[in-house]
Amino acid sequence: MALQWWQRAVFYQIYPRSFADSDGDGIGDLDGVTAHLDYLGALGIDAIWLNPINPSPLDDWGYDISDYCGIHPDLGDLAAFDRLLAEAHRRGIRVIVDLVPNHTSNQHPWFIESQSSRTNPKRDWYIWIPGSPDRPPTNWESYFGGGTWKYDAATAAWYLHMFLEQQPDLNFRNPEVVEAIHDVIRFWLERGADGFRIDVVQGLIKDDQLRDNPIRVKRDPDIPWYAEGSQDPLYSSDRPEIHEIIRGFRRVSDSYEDRMLVGETWPREQERLADYLRPDELQLGFNFRFLLARYDAHRFRAAIELTEKSFGPGAWPTWTLSNHDFPRHITRYSRGGDGDARARVAAVMLLTLRGTPFIYYGEEIGMRDAEVPAGSKRDPVGRDGCRSPMQWSDARNGGFSTSEKTWLPCGDFKTVNVARQLNDPHSMLSLYRRLIQLRKSTPALLEGSYRAFEGAPEDCLVFHRDTPAQHIVVALNFTADPRQIDLPAGTILLSTVSRSSYLTKSSLTLAPNEAVIVMLDV
Ligand code: GLC
Ligand code: MG
Repeated sequence: MALQWWQRAVFYQIYPRSFADSDGDGIGDLDGVTAHLDYLGALGIDAIWLNPINPSPLDDWGYDISDYCGIHPDLGDLAAFDRLLAEAHRRGIRVIVDLVPNHTSNQHPWFIESQSSRTNPKRDWYIWIPGSPDRPPTNWESYFGGGTWKYDAATAAWYLHMFLEQQPDLNFRNPEVVEAIHDVIRFWLERGADGFRIDVVQGLIKDDQLRDNPIRVKRDPDIPWYAEGSQDPLYSSDRPEIHEIIRGFRRVSDSYEDRMLVGETWPREQERLADYLRPDELQLGFNFRFLLARYDAHRFRAAIELTEKSFGPGAWPTWTLSNHDFPRHITRYSRGGDGDARARVAAVMLLTLRGTPFIYYGEEIGMRDAEVPAGSKRDPVGRDGCRSPMQWSDARNGGFSTSEKTWLPCGDFKTVNVARQLNDPHSMLSLYRRLIQLRKSTPALLEGSYRAFEGAPEDCLVFHRDTPAQHIVVALNFTADPRQIDLPAGTILLSTVSRSSYLTKSSLTLAPNEAVIVMLDV
């Protein structure tokens, strides 16, 4: 079956405040993104995802929306969005935007009304539980730590916030709320957006009986907070009723041509991810295991095999090494090893697995988390390091902005920047460009089956990607020592190190932290 555009695409996540500043105020903006579309086109990017661009008091840097159908003035206006969309589409690049339906800002007019009295028509748009100030309705824990209920003395009731108290949760059991969010979806699709990344999908519906969450019994080795003895969000997420809500989103999305929904999906158990990926639900769901996994072949293999096993033929995987919520992978890999070499191995993995890869801006040049001194911290939960300005050159502010000061401090742009890597065939940027090209021109890498390679050393990750006509083996050495693999004869299409021979006979010796893509002769 022919693949859909979102199965063939390489996605690129842009944190709009940090990509490029067109007007010199120290804050990245939409015109800045538009100005760099040729860069993305040359890299081979097919689609971009913009983190929230809507008006917001910025308590959670845009994930606290006060107007779903506008643009934050720091980033531009609707005309700038239309320009970005038109210019992207002209280059064959699709644009998806962030939809944050779980909660609004407490500054959103809906919440201001809702809070105003117990009888306000919007009262039931949020989750209000009357009660006394000494007893919150449930024991649920916020994703950001602490409780999830805030007491409102004026109306003697608690409201629910799964994130900051400035982010009250909407009530998706209220059909008016569902309809209001459908209108938001229509608004952006009508304008020409190609789809949405949907925030905290698993959390949109909570238990109608407000039962307390139990303690987790099974830990997950890749997700540190899924620890034994931690809280299992049994009643605050992954509720059965969520699927009807998603089907509603999908119906609206499918009334436009060729649009796509990708969910931020943190299921209580990894096996449940596929439950969200159905012909009438989400097309894609983020798989976060690589974001947290140690640089260790066993961990990556476990993540891939769990995905391949639990997905079945109907669901299509996604792969992500970094995003705006966690330290960048190159930064994590640099603790205790050669971060650059390891990030190259990971890039080969990301772009040769079966599934849609998402690249986080700057990872293609090996950008590291910036040091953010105490006085420059912006994010309430410490995620600033991975959100620093894109490093375009070694000019002032890394070419990101001409301003005196940037909204977040810049990282190591003197050594790591686009200009320096653009024409260097050995740069990280050239590796990403070659990988993307190879992926697009090699059917086995795009649509081939995945199968583990038998007999490889345990501390390497080696797998097949096959179509009837093409047989590819990808071999990744996660160790700092050479490793030998018995391999049929073939040609090395790409390696992360320079080699004397690109032909393999019966055995292949991988250099420390070397990744290769081999086309077998048979
Ligand atoms: C998602 C976003 C994160 C945000 C949170 C609350 O997890 O990725 O950045 O803080 O939702 O909206
Ligand atoms: Mg600006």
